[in-house]
Amino acid sequence: MIGKLNHIAIAVPDLAAATANYRDVLGARVSEPVDEPDHGVTVVFIELANTKIELLHPLGKDSPIQGFLNKNPSGGMHHVCFEVEDIIAARDKLAASGARVLGGGEPKTGAHGKPVLFLHPKDFFGTLIELEQA
Ligand code: CO
Repeated sequence: MIGKLNHIAIAVPDLAAATANYRDVLGARVSEPVDEPDHGVTVVFIELANTKIELLHPLGKDSPIQGFLNKNPSGGMHHVCFEVEDIIAARDKLAASGARVLGGGEPKTGAHGKPVLFLHPKDFFGTLIELEQA
């Protein structure tokens, strides 16, 4: 059911420092920071040959990333995003298998303007999974 790895999202407490690290130490091509107020994040996109890394930093006081950083002050992997062809079919299959789909199960428009859903990390070995309709 899942297709390509669309991105891995990493929450970081200092976006400028993390961006510089990926650019200067790891030698990656990094974007300018992009504010996404609807999602409560500022994102730096790092394009790799086969996928993307997204560095996430809290934006606004109700950011979902802030709670994660409170628990993980030095930052860490926040979620992985897999592509699916049909997000409704994927949701129904997951729900039938007992996996918990977050947010009431209705897809929302994600950071790339496409429908996304999130799956409960406790059902996937401690990893928050995002599904994006490709
Ligand atoms: Co994501």
